[in-house]
Amino acid sequence: MQTLLILGRNPTISIAEVRAVYPRAKICAREKKFAIFEGIETIDLKKIGGVIKTGEVFARELVYREDNLKDKDAQKIYDFLAEEFSQKEGKQIFGFSVYPFDSKTLKTLLIGAKKFLQKKGISSRFANKNFTNLTNPQSEFEVLKKGGVEILAVRGSGNWFFARLKQNQPFDDYKKRDYEKAFRDARVGMLPPKLAQMMLNLGIADKKDLRIYDSFCGVGGILVEAALLGHRVIGSDLDSRMVEFSQKNLAAMNLSGEVFVHDAKEKLNESDYRKYDVVVSEGYLGPPRRTVPEENIRAKIFAELQQLYSKFFAWLDCRRVVICFPIYLEAGIPKYFASREILPILKEMGWEMKNTEKLIYSRPDQTVGREIVVLERQ
Ligand SMILES: C[S@@+](CC[C@H](N)C(=O)[O-])C[C@H]1O[C@@H](n2cnc3c(N)ncnc32)[C@H](O)[C@@H]1O
Repeated sequence: MQTLLILGRNPTISIAEVRAVYPRAKICAREKKFAIFEGIETIDLKKIGGVIKTGEVFARELVYREDNLKDKDAQKIYDFLAEEFSQKEGKQIFGFSVYPFDSKTLKTLLIGAKKFLQKKGISSRFANKNFTNLTNPQSEFEVLKKGGVEILAVRGSGNWFFARLKQNQPFDDYKKRDYEKAFRDARVGMLPPKLAQMMLNLGIADKKDLRIYDSFCGVGGILVEAALLGHRVIGSDLDSRMVEFSQKNLAAMNLSGEVFVHDAKEKLNESDYRKYDVVVSEGYLGPPRRTVPEENIRAKIFAELQQLYSKFFAWLDCRRVVICFPIYLEAGIPKYFASREILPILKEMGWEMKNTEKLIYSRPDQTVGREIVVLERQ
């Protein structure tokens, strides 16, 4: 079975996350917004931050020179819908999402499917209002929950792939965890839960019941997500207020974890409850900035981070670490990478970067972005 994954806003990180969680799955096609895998039998979108929809591929069609699909190319979809609805009573609901979005193709599919179903004696209506792709809530409440069928039509470089939608990302849960945190701080704790989950998956891979340590835990975004994924959590921060916020955010969700004040430059005294298997942390990104610092200030910030991280990685007692280093963006483009100063020192200490592609999480309106690195001690 081939599984279609519609990727989130940072497709490179999404792909790295999926590969980490499903190391045996084979990638069959990869485009900017989607990827097709073989060997992913079940996937739970509550646990994968970087995938927004999944579908089961049922057919493919060669890509012709013209960009948009014609009725004759879409016959396999119409047959599929007719077969799905053939035993059902009443008006049937269907919907389409086309990637990359193309209104001509969407119109062809909506009208073509409706006409074909009518010819087969099946009464139907489509859920795509205004001839646009379905939003996640439309797809969830106006198609899936009403027993309808949504078809994802994605255009790769050689083929169109047609898939039946299986799952939508639980958008409401993420939104609640992001915006309705019990304890927030304007300067800290802006780590989106989806990113926390992606980082955790890069560290945990397909393992169960690990002890995860966030040594720069802030208000506890990573701790909460790790505990929700079913792992034991340990957190520390230099700032006692942050430790308190983390403890309260865990408690507000009925989750437990050990959180204490600690300077990450110092060796942790590992009593039993402080043992950990993997470190997953947003780390410290340097002082908050509205503008890109001048070269001399930048050099100073990067030198301080280099010192912090060389001390931190020197005492760490685990094999795998997932952490973010800051990047300064100029006109929305990632320009100055702290990792250039930090990684060579870590390499000398025996820590090797394991991600093969650069994993950058940033928005064009940001000054400070994050580069995620997966490190392993050799
Ligand atoms: C970017 S924030 C982490 C935010 C966190 N991911 C969250 O969800 O709230 C960085 C945190 O590192 C902490 N910090 C800075 N230097 C530290 C050090 N030397 N040891 C431990 N924590 C430190 C800060 O107090 C801050 O809470």
